[in-house]
Amino acid sequence: MAARIIDIATDRALALTEASARLGEGLPIAIPTETVYGLAADATNPAAVTRIYETKGRPRFNPLICHMADLAMAERHAIFDPVSRLLAEAFWPGPLTLVLPRRAESGIHDLATAGLDTVGVRVPRGFTSDLIAAFGRPLAAPSANTSGKVSPTSARHVAEDLGEKLSLIIDGGRAPVGVESTIVKVEGDRVRLLRPGGISAEAIERLTGRKVERQEGLSGAIEAPGMLASHYAPGAAVRLFAAAAEPGEALIRFAGQPVAGSEAAKAVFDLSPAGDLAEAAAHLFDYLKQADATGAARIAVAAIPDEGLGEAINDRLARAAAPRDT
Ligand code: TXA
Ligand code: MG
Repeated sequence: MAARIIDIATDRALALTEASARLGEGLPIAIPTETVYGLAADATNPAAVTRIYETKGRPRFNPLICHMADLAMAERHAIFDPVSRLLAEAFWPGPLTLVLPRRAESGIHDLATAGLDTVGVRVPRGFTSDLIAAFGRPLAAPSANTSGKVSPTSARHVAEDLGEKLSLIIDGGRAPVGVESTIVKVEGDRVRLLRPGGISAEAIERLTGRKVERQEGLSGAIEAPGMLASHYAPGAAVRLFAAAAEPGEALIRFAGQPVAGSEAAKAVFDLSPAGDLAEAAAHLFDYLKQADATGAARIAVAAIPDEGLGEAINDRLARAAAPRDT
């Protein structure tokens, strides 16, 4: 049976009551966040969390981000150091996840944290934080896609991938940020970037006055176990830093930069003709899907600047291009 889709622009109150009802039954539902669509379930209910993994076809249990209605709710589940609190006050609601020690009395289930004594928490913008406030419990939510696939930035993306496996998809329009949250872990004087995302490392450095420590290459896999090297993968092969497009490839470029051979490409997508990296991030996953849908055997991607949100874009592209297990 196909999922019911409720558009919050049409009936926000209905979306809130139906979403709360399904969550109360222990069912996972698709929710809009500012980063990507999430597959959300009650983080305190082990059966509900198990259904997230089943629905995604995730091969194993990874720690999931637990979404909170606000900072006060997050403080009931996690212990904040001063730098993490500064970050939360500056960037919440928004695309920042903080990895923090979990409070002993937090009801968040071990299946949501993969048994770690830490928990990844964030407060999303908009409908989802209202839903969490109404529901009253944190929501564990990875991106609402089959494991290993490109993350969804629209309700249609979710419906095409998981529509048959879900009872409810809440449509909040196109996800404005378009890449997942930045994951940060503060350890004493160190501010560690576990995953680049919708808040730039530079913005974190300006606020904290500290240099952000990055992971080596794609070794995020070790500290953030959900970050397997091959991830965000379209069906087509992905070729990075393309100086020229080869015949039959689909081409993704940036800022109107000329790329030799583009006339022979199957299709050309410009992430942001104006050269705006925030706009490019918002388009990234949708254009990867569209490039894939052209049937091209390979997607060539021209170089994208690595500063600001470009760091998150390049991280996701590197994962899309990484050697596949299957
Ligand atoms: O923007 C986002 O963050 C989206 C939306 C839906 O909120 N969610 C998302 O969740 O990307 P997910 O499950 O795909 O990514 C969770 C990442 C994984 O890499 C996981 O390893 C890391 O967060 N993580 C979660 N809890 C952690 C913890 N306690 N310690 C280290 N890493 C953690
Ligand atoms: Mg994901």
